[in-house]
Amino acid sequence: MDIRFQAGGSGRWKADAALAFFFEGEGPEQAASALEQAAPWLGIAPALRDYRGRKGEMTVMYGPAAMDLPRVVALGLGAREKAGGEDGLTALRHAVGGALRLCREHGLESVAVDMPSVERLAPVYGLDASRLAREIALSALLGLYRYERWRSGQDASPADPRWLAFLFREEHADDAVREAARLAEAEAAGLYLARDLANGPANEVTPSFMASTAEELAARYAEYGMSCRILGPGELEERNMGAFLAVAGGAEQEPRLVALEYAPRGAEGRPVVLVGKGITFDSGGISLKPSAGMAEMKGDMSGAAAVMGVFEAMGRLAPQWTPPCPVVGVMPCTENMPGGRATRPGDIVVAMSGRSIEIVNTDAEGRLVLADAMTYAQKTWNPGGMIDIATLTGACAVALGKGNAGLFANDDALADMLHAAGCSLGERNWRLPVWESSREILKSNVADMLNSGAREGGALHAAFFLSCFVEEGMRWAHLDIAAADAGESPINAKGATGFGVRTLLDAVRSAQQWRLN
Ligand code: BES
Ligand code: MN
Ligand code: ZN
Repeated sequence: MDIRFQAGGSGRWKADAALAFFFEGEGPEQAASALEQAAPWLGIAPALRDYRGRKGEMTVMYGPAAMDLPRVVALGLGAREKAGGEDGLTALRHAVGGALRLCREHGLESVAVDMPSVERLAPVYGLDASRLAREIALSALLGLYRYERWRSGQDASPADPRWLAFLFREEHADDAVREAARLAEAEAAGLYLARDLANGPANEVTPSFMASTAEELAARYAEYGMSCRILGPGELEERNMGAFLAVAGGAEQEPRLVALEYAPRGAEGRPVVLVGKGITFDSGGISLKPSAGMAEMKGDMSGAAAVMGVFEAMGRLAPQWTPPCPVVGVMPCTENMPGGRATRPGDIVVAMSGRSIEIVNTDAEGRLVLADAMTYAQKTWNPGGMIDIATLTGACAVALGKGNAGLFANDDALADMLHAAGCSLGERNWRLPVWESSREILKSNVADMLNSGAREGGALHAAFFLSCFVEEGMRWAHLDIAAADAGESPINAKGATGFGVRTLLDAVRSAQQWRLN
């Protein structure tokens, strides 16, 4: 679905349906007024009499078929007083996503949102109109997402609307809104890619598949300065990535370390590095997981998928927008499988940084691949800051519950930025500590450290483990997204959500504020 603009006043507005937003208990006049010229029938639409504007309430109202706006989808937003918080914005996102799904069900080709209404709503949410337009455009696109790669097509699903238009009273569409819509489209493209990768089964989305996806991306945006480097097993061995290779040992599928680099003209100084865990299937290895829910572990590359999504979004934004500094994405991709060559509990390996690790639990594999990926990134690019994102610990899910990411950082400014960005973008995170007391818990009798310690505080020990591979002075943050997928909603089809794409893209956009030059 495209995002379009219709300017020149309500006489020029035309679409199969317009969305209208209502706060609870404020009467139907509120939305009718903005649309009264283009949909004059709305004021006397019988269904409007019973419309309450409750959160989640959605009704299609019909005018004469010959009208330029013959349908209005009424969307309830709940109480105005509650709209200011992030839950308010979530309700609005869900309303828009749900409306687009309904329009698709009805076979409508075009949908419209009038800007006077957006301008009226924006201050209620504490946003400016263009930012609210961005949320609306993105929610519309996310509502329509489906993963249909493996459907045989025997029960044909309805086609998406062809476009969503923002309607302007003025002669020209506002530039800030145009830009916001482009940003939303780029974010949606990144989120779609991240979702496709994470929803993809592990027999398709293998480490080599991740590598070829990155290669295709880099080729598509090569003219703007995107490129790709891929290391296979031989190169990982040459670079002494003993921790990464220990995880790959049991797998028939070869591992790949996938790196995307984006250095467009004008991007200066030390790069920002994003590291994403890319376990394409986590069986647990010899420390085999129980079979209940194991299928979900095809999504254990969601961190890498989010990083890939950020590069897709950045590519889409070029050349109008380019990051202030180079951006590198590093994705250690492998399966974690049992097998004759698999790492055994008790094995000792030496990471690229030179630290020896006693692997007491082969299911604590994410930190092992990330350790070497972070060492490699720091040695190769001398980054000004590094953020990793990983489905790292079930303990983080226990601590924070579904829909939330754990945030860890060695720098308050970076942590504050990520917290504020995540919360305002619908990707909530909460900071947890990196404490020295984890050092005791990860003490090994025979090696420099264990890969896993106590169950209690598991998310913290995992973060501490990672911090041991962050070089002195490096600004670093870690997002544990093991439970970040909130589940099904009007903007999330069942399955992967693409959590992290928006937050990380925002972190790149604001890199000047937090990274070292
Ligand atoms: N990929 C899992 C974490 C996970 C669990 C993600 C559930 C999403 C849903 C990770 O590799 C893992 O197995 N972690 C272990 C660590 C433990 C062995 C220290 C865990 O959380 O149980
Ligand atoms: Mn695991
Ligand atoms: Zn894992």
